[in-house]
Amino acid sequence: MISKKMQDALNNQLNAELFSSYLYLAMSGHFENTNMKGFANWMNKQSIEEYQHAMKFYTYINSVGAKVDLKAIEKPKNKWTSPKQAFEEALAHEKKITDMINKIADLALTEKDHATNIFLHWFVTEQVEEVASVEDIVNKFELIGDNKNGLFMLDRELGSRQ
Ligand code: FEO
Repeated sequence: MISKKMQDALNNQLNAELFSSYLYLAMSGHFENTNMKGFANWMNKQSIEEYQHAMKFYTYINSVGAKVDLKAIEKPKNKWTSPKQAFEEALAHEKKITDMINKIADLALTEKDHATNIFLHWFVTEQVEEVASVEDIVNKFELIGDNKNGLFMLDRELGSRQ
């Protein structure tokens, strides 16, 4: 059994992962609407991944006999001034999620909650990958600048994400 404090932290993270899914779905919808199908595809796949992250928390909370407590999901924005701005916000968001995961990992260590500590290892590693992959895309936007051909190529590249 985990502590009440840990249960609250895990439920809070479950909500944050659902919001991540919602945020990327909003970005996907925006890109569909602005006819950038490749960016829309990348965000759609990211949204699905985030839902899977949320479900990992859901399953873990249940598996340790704790109580899932779903909270309201914040409404995301529905408009961005450029694709670059959306990806920059995605990067800032992933950095925030990394901080949240690290704080729960700190709590697990403080409480000597070994099971939760091990459960969180996957997320610690995943966050390194998530930040790196979005950072890579933001760097490509920097290189492209105002070049429309470059934007077209990047949209096509991100359209291939499975
Ligand atoms: Fe599940 Fe992108 O953090």
